[in-house]
Amino acid sequence: MRPVQAPLRAAFDGIEAGLNIVFPPSWNPLRNLGALAFFMYWIVAVSGIYVYIFFDTGLTEAYDSVEYMTHDQWYLAGVMRSLHRYASDGMVLFMLVHMLREFALDRYRGPRWFTWVTGVPILLLVIMAGISGYWLVWDRLAQYVAIATTEWFDWLPIFGQSIARNFLTTDSLDDRFFTLMIFIHIAVPLILLFILWVHLQRVSRPEINPPRGLAIGSFLMLLGLSLVYPAVSQGPADLSTVVSVVGLDWFYLGLYPLVDYWSSGTVWGFVTVLGLILIVLPWMPPMRRAPAAQVDPAHCNGCTWCLLDCPYNAIEMGPRTDNAAFDQQAVVDPSLCVRCGICAASCPSSTPFRKGGEVLTGIDLPGSPLNDLRQRMVDVAGSLSGDARILVIGCGRGVPVDSVASPSVAALTLPCVGNLPPSFVDFAVSRDLADGVMLAGCRDGDCHFRFGIRWTEERVDRERDPRLRVRVPRGRLAYCWSGPGGSRRLQREITAFAERLKAMPKRPRWEPAAGPPPAPTVELEPTGSDG
Ligand code: HEM
Ligand code: SF4
Ligand code: SF4
Repeated sequence: MRPVQAPLRAAFDGIEAGLNIVFPPSWNPLRNLGALAFFMYWIVAVSGIYVYIFFDTGLTEAYDSVEYMTHDQWYLAGVMRSLHRYASDGMVLFMLVHMLREFALDRYRGPRWFTWVTGVPILLLVIMAGISGYWLVWDRLAQYVAIATTEWFDWLPIFGQSIARNFLTTDSLDDRFFTLMIFIHIAVPLILLFILWVHLQRVSRPEINPPRGLAIGSFLMLLGLSLVYPAVSQGPADLSTVVSVVGLDWFYLGLYPLVDYWSSGTVWGFVTVLGLILIVLPWMPPMRRAPAAQVDPAHCNGCTWCLLDCPYNAIEMGPRTDNAAFDQQAVVDPSLCVRCGICAASCPSSTPFRKGGEVLTGIDLPGSPLNDLRQRMVDVAGSLSGDARILVIGCGRGVPVDSVASPSVAALTLPCVGNLPPSFVDFAVSRDLADGVMLAGCRDGDCHFRFGIRWTEERVDRERDPRLRVRVPRGRLAYCWSGPGGSRRLQREITAFAERLKAMPKRPRWEPAAGPPPAPTVELEPTGSDG
């Protein structure tokens, strides 16, 4: 998959960086694609209800009622019709780009297969809803779509007789056809809403609403488009003539030319293979399966912090399996755990300030335990030299931190920057392992594991437990959220950070040979306190 994902990812990164010039980072449309698709759904639903009030079912009435809306009541029903059309197109656009981006960013494997696979029927339902909408207008485009679709379906050996025959003459059609299409056009979006709910079942705190400014901006764009370039019909359907030239809505009807150029069987084969590829994609190589997070009841007090921080609803509280005096303990569902390690950093037991002993925590990643992190930190810091010794801690998905290592810069990589307990920053600074700590990772607002950056910043800013102690001078900590292509930016920020560190008052250097470190040591960091 890498050869396909890498160029796609580079393209997304480039476009995202370009959009960041125009939008504030949190408004970047590429970071809000699912939420924007949802927003389009609501515009389609509201405008659809309004348009339905004026829509008449019937062979001639349908077209006439849509014409009435478009021309006689252009200022309201006409605008609503256009909004309905353009928001539907927007939904397809945002959905397809959202799907491509999740693929490019490798966010569809492992336990995320569920969200990906439930996206596949969403694709189908959105397209079905749109196509049934085009039939309802009963203009030349509807005639083309009706005949092409029924001829295509006739290839399947499931209908007793040809359904395309219904469109040979006007006499072979009756008003019940419109009632059926209306039913499909309303039922499919309702089923879609249900599947969207299922789609988000494994994602904790899903962002289903775009930032207000982005929502207002995109609505105004649709409104402007509706006023300047209103949606119109393409002349009444006439079954006595063949539709030879028709304007297609490429968002919904992009596959229709294939029905004209290929045989129906080939198009069925193409669509089926495409659907199957999408469904099996999460299980295609390379498969990486590190062990899921594990709870150690001996160090879990049942505080629920890990449950609150887990981005994938993989943690529940369950009854104690030991005799400890707490009511509950954390329980991880390995089939939902994406191995980000965010929970290990949430746990109040995750402290490196343990005299002599191991870092023993309530929850940890067996493949990347915090005890190893503490050791790695001490080891790499031991080789640092210079006036501004910097420890850069990054993640396996963001900017590659190893690329900036030098005699004065040591680099450590975690599964996610959210895997770093704030007490480890305190440890590095107060034990004089480094003069400053720089945290690096995915692009801001776009953490691969959704909340790694957000929780880290909130913990450091002391807005979320476990909080960074106030004794850590804030100037000795810096961030660089620049994403995988951001090595140069990281280098620049490290140089600037080093200058700031050099300008700070000098601290007494701790020499291990001189005895214990100067900073206070704490046995077990009390929950959320400054200690
Ligand atoms: C109208 C269509 C769709 C809507 C409204 C929608 C909406 C969303 C939303 C709101 C999220 C959560 C984003 C977050 O808070 O991090 C999400 C996640 C996701 N969607 Fe969709 N989606 C749609 C279609 C699809 C399709 C067609 C696919 C792929 C076949 C797909 C694949 C995914 C995946 C893999 C995630 C999980 C990302 C992660 O684990 O971080 N979605 N979607
Ligand atoms: S590693 Fe922890 S936070 Fe991450 S998904 Fe697994 S249980 Fe949740
Ligand atoms: S954060 Fe730690 S102590 Fe709290 S419930 Fe989770 S594992 Fe237990």
